[in-house]
Parts: sequence; C-alpha cells; structure tokens
Amino acid sequence: MNDIYDRARSVLLRNERTGHDRRTGKAFGYISPSPHKYPFQWSWDSCLHAVALSHIEPELAKREIRTLLLAQHPDGFVPHVTFWRLPHPFDYIQCRRAFLPRHTALVQPPVLAQAVAAVYRRSGDTDFLDEVLPGVQRHYLWLLRRRDPDSDGLISIISPYEGLDYSPAYDAALGLERAGYLRVWCRTRCVDVRNWLLNYRYEAILRRGYFNVEDVLVNCVFAQGLRLLAALCEERGRQEEAETLRERAGETERALLRKCYDEADGCFYNLYSTAELPAKVKTVGSLFPLILEGLEGRVVEALVGHLLSPDEFWAPFPVPSVSMNEPSFNPHARLSLWRGPTWINTNWFLVGGLRRHGYPEVARDIVKASLELVNRSGFREYYDPITGEGLGASNFGWSTLVLDMMEE
Ligand code: GLC
Repeated sequence: MNDIYDRARSVLLRNERTGHDRRTGKAFGYISPSPHKYPFQWSWDSCLHAVALSHIEPELAKREIRTLLLAQHPDGFVPHVTFWRLPHPFDYIQCRRAFLPRHTALVQPPVLAQAVAAVYRRSGDTDFLDEVLPGVQRHYLWLLRRRDPDSDGLISIISPYEGLDYSPAYDAALGLERAGYLRVWCRTRCVDVRNWLLNYRYEAILRRGYFNVEDVLVNCVFAQGLRLLAALCEERGRQEEAETLRERAGETERALLRKCYDEADGCFYNLYSTAELPAKVKTVGSLFPLILEGLEGRVVEALVGHLLSPDEFWAPFPVPSVSMNEPSFNPHARLSLWRGPTWINTNWFLVGGLRRHGYPEVARDIVKASLELVNRSGFREYYDPITGEGLGASNFGWSTLVLDMMEE
C-alpha cells in the first residue's frame, strides 16, 4: 500500500506544472497527464488527478480544480485543453480563430462534480466547496443549454476528442465501414477542420449534424455529476437548485434508457446524427450506465452479463475499451487508444458503479487487476487487456486512481 502510494505521489508531483497566466497574471498549477506527450491541462484528466491527489496532497487537489476553473468562461464553458503556455501549431484546428488561443473550443466528459465531491468528502473544506460550486454548476448548465439541441436530456458531442477519441463507436458517425488507422485519423481530423471552418459555432455544427453524437459514456458521467452536484448544493442549504439539478439528472437517465438501451442486446449504444441512429458497437461506454444510481435491476444484470462474458469484456486484465468479439477490437494498432486497451480511469468509474449495485466481488477483481497492471508495467496510459503489457505514455497521471479504487 505504502509503496503504491509513494509511487503515485511521485508520478503526480513529477508531472506538476506551475506558472503565471500571461493574460490575467494569476498563478496556475496543475498536473499534466504525461509531460512529454500531453504537456497541457486536460479537463477530465485534471478532475481525475484531483481525485487521486485528495489522498495525497489535498491542497494540490483543490488547486487542480481552481486552475481548471480559471480558464472557465463567464457563461460556464470549461475547455477540454487549456494551454497555459503557447499552443502547438497543430492545436489551432481545435480552437476558435485567434492569434494565440488560450484553450481549445471543445469539452471533455464532465467530471468536475465528481472531483469536487471527492475533494470535499475527504477534506471537509466547506469554504472550498462554496468557492467552486457556482462555477461547477455553471458548467453543467452550459452543457444543457449549448449541447442539447433537441432538448431530450442527452447532451451531444461535436468531435471524437470530446469523448473517447478514435473509439470504433464513432466509426459509423464518421462514415467508416472498414477502419484502418489512417482512415480513422483522417476522418477524425476532417471533423476538426469542418468545426474550425464554422469557427466552433456549436449551434451551426449540431444543426449540420456531420458529427453530432449522443454519447452514452459522456451522458452517464454527466448524469452522475448532476446528482452529485445536487447533493453538494443540498448540503450547503441550496435546496431549490438541488431539486432542479436532480430533475435534470432524471431526464438524462430516462433518455439514456429510452433511447440508447437496446432491449434485445441488453446493451447501450451511442446515437449519431440528427436522426439519432444507434452505433451498434459494444464498447466500455456501453457498460457505463452501471454508474447510474437508479438503474433497474434487470438492466444492471444484462450489463454485468456482458462485463463478465469472457468473449466480450472479461479479459485477463479487464475492462477492455472495446468488447473483444468486436471486429474493431485491436489494443495494439496505431492510434488504438480507445480501440481495445484497458484504461484505469474507466475502471475507476465502473468499480464505483459495481459496488453501488451490489457486485463488490466483481469490483474487487477489477481493482486487483488494475493494481497488477500498475505493479507490473508502471503508471502507463493504457494496457493490453490480454497480456497486461503497458502501452502509450509513461508516468501517466490518472492511472494513479488505483489509490482511490483500493478504498472500499
Ligand atoms: C488522449 C485521451 C483523452 C485524454 C488525453 C490526455 O487524448 O484520449 O481522453 O484526456 O489523452 O490524457
């Protein structure tokens, strides 16, 4: 335990980046996911770093969230990447047109509420909670306002980089049937170019619908966040806001079940285009409704059935990002990021859901496998689910989440 704690601490502190914002002059500090490959501040990485840091250095966990909110726009938007220093030339395509953009115009799965809840739960710091709660709330309301064009409670993403980039769950939306890595990369980048040509005007992008995906994972994380936010508001005596947030969460949860659940397959699928077509590929996102509070028992059972099937997700090192019997499953291909390998962050979410729904042994098995991955191969970006080989970036921040997973 101490060994893993010390190693996690040293990875997070080694990846620390501090300085002064060139525009506001304000001090910033964050943990970069992996300094060489990912030098900037990524939003869901940062939130997950805060969860891990809450076990190690609570003040740094708070700073991670404060820094993320420093880049927030007054309307609530929180960027997927904030550069803090100069962007790379190839980053411009994900930004609104500007000479020196500070951040991209994209978002990532909204994990802010989960991060704040974890930091608050462990520190009990009500001043911190009161300080950040309004900004966090504004972000979730922004997503509802700007990213739910059909007002069905499901928010849309406008680029694969807003969800699990390169996941085969987006192949249909990208018009790909047989997907070699070069084609996946080119089509994904084409979405960036089209969004950039529209200068990231979200309404216009979503109206055109060339990449308008109601992503199951993103919406589950969103609904879970809304419920946590509601609980935090309630705790601070903001009863009315809590009720509204809870209602919103209920809308998203019901829409997921009504629109994304395939009864025959016992599985959830993303919807793409304005016609809301199901993208029938089983990925780790298909299992994400397990993190939702009120999921009916029969649906939970169906999902756990897929998870425990050795042909699908029950690999020697679960949980692979794509079901192993999907033709697109390929944890070693170039750009394979979300096309098969096992990631610690998705395991972290699923472990929480499994415990909640009465599957502590399954959760324990995933924690054990995650620890073994980290012990064998270090804190890597992702891992081969069959052999356990570490892949992608080294000294990767959110793989330190194993610390949080060990606490039942
Ligand atoms: C990759 C991942 C993305 C993550 C980023 C930084 O692009 O797909 O989810 O946020 O790396 O770690």
